[in-house]
Amino acid sequence: MMSEMKFALKHPKQALVYALLGDTEYRHMRWSRSCLTAKDSALPFSLHASKATDIHEHLVTLFMLTVELNLRTVVELGTRGGESTVALLMAVKEIGGKVFSYDVDECSEAKHVIKQYGLEEYWEFTRGDDLFAKWNSPIDHLFIDTTHTYEQTSKELQRYEPFVRSGGIVTMHDSVSFPEVKQAVQDYSRLRRDIKLYEYLNNNGLFVLFKK
Ligand SMILES: C[S@@+](CC[C@H](N)C(=O)[O-])C[C@H]1O[C@@H](n2cnc3c(N)ncnc32)[C@H](O)[C@@H]1O
Repeated sequence: MMSEMKFALKHPKQALVYALLGDTEYRHMRWSRSCLTAKDSALPFSLHASKATDIHEHLVTLFMLTVELNLRTVVELGTRGGESTVALLMAVKEIGGKVFSYDVDECSEAKHVIKQYGLEEYWEFTRGDDLFAKWNSPIDHLFIDTTHTYEQTSKELQRYEPFVRSGGIVTMHDSVSFPEVKQAVQDYSRLRRDIKLYEYLNNNGLFVLFKK
């Protein structure tokens, strides 16, 4: 109580905003300001990433890794409404790359959002089962976010990971909310000395697999 009063006396404006918004909204606002230090040209991305979804806390990571590691060819498995797609597209726009997305659904909402952001020229969408896609060229960043079953995740890794070049990455969402994803990636990489795994536990989990 004492420390809250001290804070209010020292920062009366922030204390007023806190009182008006409530704890959750205030923290959310602070989070979106502190985590997203995007420059002006990336402002639409910070707005996109600050909208609370099942993946929004990972969008900056997907964006940052793609830009900073210069991962120009991105393959996305699972598009839905396009949350991850927009982050990846914003990233490849910065570095002159392209995102190739696969989804069994039409993904009309994603198409609409991507058009609104003016990102269509960086995107190639294919409707269909990712396991039957005719992909046969090098990948810099493979992002997996489909059914999250052990079998599907293992097959997607077997099908696409060999195309990920040395120095590239695989990111996988929902490793906490779907433990089969975690099991599949751990089993897949168990005997691989060229693979290093990291896992974020927040916002349903995100695996980042670095390929040496
Ligand atoms: C969790 S959602 C993807 C969310 C999206 N990455 C985002 O950030 O908004 C999973 C998507 O995977 C798609 N999907 C499921 N099985 C698939 C398959 N075999 N091939 C391609 N897409 C698939 C579903 O249609 C669904 O749109």
